Amino acid sequence: MGNRTEEDYNFVFKVVLIGESGVGKTNLLSRFTRNEFSHDSRTTIGVEFSTRTVMLGTAAIKAQIWDTAGLERYRAITSARPLHPNPRYYRGAVGALLVFDLTKHQTYAVVERWLKELYDHAEATIVVMLVGNKSDLHQAREVPTEEARMFAENNGLLFLETSALDSTNVELAFETVLKEIF
Ligand code: GTP
Repeated sequence: MGNRTEEDYNFVFKVVLIGESGVGKTNLLSRFTRNEFSHDSRTTIGVEFSTRTVMLGTAAIKAQIWDTAGLERYRAITSARPLHPNPRYYRGAVGALLVFDLTKHQTYAVVERWLKELYDHAEATIVVMLVGNKSDLHQAREVPTEEARMFAENNGLLFLETSALDSTNVELAFETVLKEIF
């Protein structure tokens, strides 16, 4: 898949990034759209999006990828409040990357809640990939690959482990979701 100029595209696909704060959503986005990584990236305030246009066969697909703060520091653990404060964030999304940090089990434990909320607000046909990020931190792993893979399989999700730091599988993750939508 090559890059194209931003004006020149056949389709626009909205893809949302969701998951707990600090799992690496912003860095996955910056790695994919600008090939950049930040060691000291601050929490995302509000909602941002970035785009990158890729070729799928002869079609130019403009991926419009939305990023938002994971925000869990603003919610009580036991609260029944929504994970994302604004359900309109999900509107029109045809794809989602549900990201957890494979060195923090707590971010994996809440994946099921994110998934339920996504299905409550997004189109039923949305393509969802479960993404275990920070695969470069081998010594700190808390979530076994097989456990996450089984969860994904049982819930009809795509699954990959990525590293926004060393770039492993970042392109593949976004491109697999875009292909599946297309
Ligand atoms: P919120 O905006 O608060 O929701 O966080 P986020 O999910 O966007 O996480 P962010 O991209 O800001 O990354 C949080 C921290 O993890 C930063 O210090 C990043 O440098 C670091 N980080 C992100 N991805 C990776 C990765 O693949 N490997 C390693 N080792 N660190 C990462």
